[in-house]
Amino acid sequence: MTAPWWKGAVVYQVYPRSFCDSDGDGIGDLPGLLSKLDYIQALGADAVWLSPVHPSPNKDFGYDVSDFEDVAPQMGGMAAFEALTAAMHQRGLKLIMDEVLAHTSDRHPWFAESLKGDEGNKPDWYVWADTKDDGGPPNNWLSVFGGAAWSYHPKRRKHYFHKFLRSQPKLNWRDPGAKAAALEVLRFWLKKGVDGFRLDVANSFLHDDKLRDNPAIPPALRGKAHWGHAPNMQKRIHDSNLPENRKVLDEVRAVVEGFEDRFVFGEFSEEPGLIGEFVGATHGLQSGYTFTFLDDRSFSPQIFAAYYRFLADRPHVWPCVTFSNHDVVRTVTRYGGGKRDDALAKLALTLLFSLKGTILIYQGEELGLGAGDVAMDEVRDPVGELYFPFGAGRDPERTPMPWIADAVNAGFSTGKPWLPVDSVHAEMAANVQEGDPDSVLNFARTTIAARREFPALITGDIEILEANDQVLAFRRFTPEQSLLCVFNLSREPAVYAMPKRSSISPFEFGPGGWGFGGGGLTLKPLGAFIGQIG
Ligand code: NOJ
Repeated sequence: MTAPWWKGAVVYQVYPRSFCDSDGDGIGDLPGLLSKLDYIQALGADAVWLSPVHPSPNKDFGYDVSDFEDVAPQMGGMAAFEALTAAMHQRGLKLIMDEVLAHTSDRHPWFAESLKGDEGNKPDWYVWADTKDDGGPPNNWLSVFGGAAWSYHPKRRKHYFHKFLRSQPKLNWRDPGAKAAALEVLRFWLKKGVDGFRLDVANSFLHDDKLRDNPAIPPALRGKAHWGHAPNMQKRIHDSNLPENRKVLDEVRAVVEGFEDRFVFGEFSEEPGLIGEFVGATHGLQSGYTFTFLDDRSFSPQIFAAYYRFLADRPHVWPCVTFSNHDVVRTVTRYGGGKRDDALAKLALTLLFSLKGTILIYQGEELGLGAGDVAMDEVRDPVGELYFPFGAGRDPERTPMPWIADAVNAGFSTGKPWLPVDSVHAEMAANVQEGDPDSVLNFARTTIAARREFPALITGDIEILEANDQVLAFRRFTPEQSLLCVFNLSREPAVYAMPKRSSISPFEFGPGGWGFGGGGLTLKPLGAFIGQIG
């Protein structure tokens, strides 16, 4: 049996507002994306994950949908979407949509109807609950974006639950009508020929119907991340992350698998320990990602080793592997490389392309971009306003793609971009990197192409090997092929004690920087060895 196309595929995430603007309004759009398909194809991607393009009041930039079955005029409308899908399919590229079905915008007609209560036909499509006598919220659930996860609405004289902004009311998947409508959205797009979905907060479809308080994480057990944001001080086991969430994921999967050759993976933003419940060969979604690597700033071998050891006990999970997206600080910056560090970018890409999973690579990661600068009056992300300048929100990872170094706005748009183009990014523009054989972009292209030659890197299993504080070592293998992959994640030279061997054949894969000596494999700072040992 051949593996499905998505196993080990390279999925390129496009955040369309910031990718390429065709009409000069400063906001990227689908004709802009269409004009860059050569670029995506030259990178070697198999598929594009397209962040939301539906009509939206854009309080959360598309993650607040007001019509699930249309495409925003600002993005080019449905005609542009159809043209894009056709062009992608002609090139053999798959299109994965981002569906946000855990909540809607408060401008969605479903919410307007639900506001009517029993006088309308959707009273329970959202999570309404009685207000406390003192006007306070029904329980202690906190919004991921800060403050209570509940807002009062005078029309119903009740509170409604919103895990994110108050303008993103939670859809009540316990209501059969709401659930059926959400599943119908998937069918609508599957019939239009999309190849799959990334499901936003797929851990959050169900909430506890008794509305029990989330327990506090005891202060003694809290680390920096807990103290950094009040919602992180509670264990989110009742507002979301219910084990029974799996049942609705089964239903989602059945819809998707009712169509041939489609792929559905989820964002599992909390309680990463539950990935084995929510993803499986025969249950839950086909794949998914946690924030284990996305949240990490240490780039320590231990993080990767521990996660894959954890997955070794859950062989039914085919993970998505990701270091970067529109929600987290860009890889190079997060892993300690400041605004630019090409050597770190290359090593991180090599690791990304070597780990077991479906690879999710975020626009600009192939250029080695670090966090973009965004001044206070340029902040657009509601999360950015929370703690600025202590925390900058998510705009620094959403600044426009730099295409042409010396063009206005680095070729992203002829109009004023919705977020500023970073000047260091402009220097790193795609056209500059295309002309430089040593660039991160050419490295990414070569490495993705080389990876295709090694089935063990694509669909193979992984075994983490004993190493040390600097070095991550693992084996990727199929019955026919076994590869040793060794990475020095530190900025000091390192030595790795090789397993006993009779032969060694290194591959031209990754940044190199290895040799023998000191009783083992020596690795330069940020060096890597990938090869076969006999
Ligand atoms: C996760 C998305 O990736 C993020 O951008 C969004 O704000 C939240 N879910 C809410 O939809």
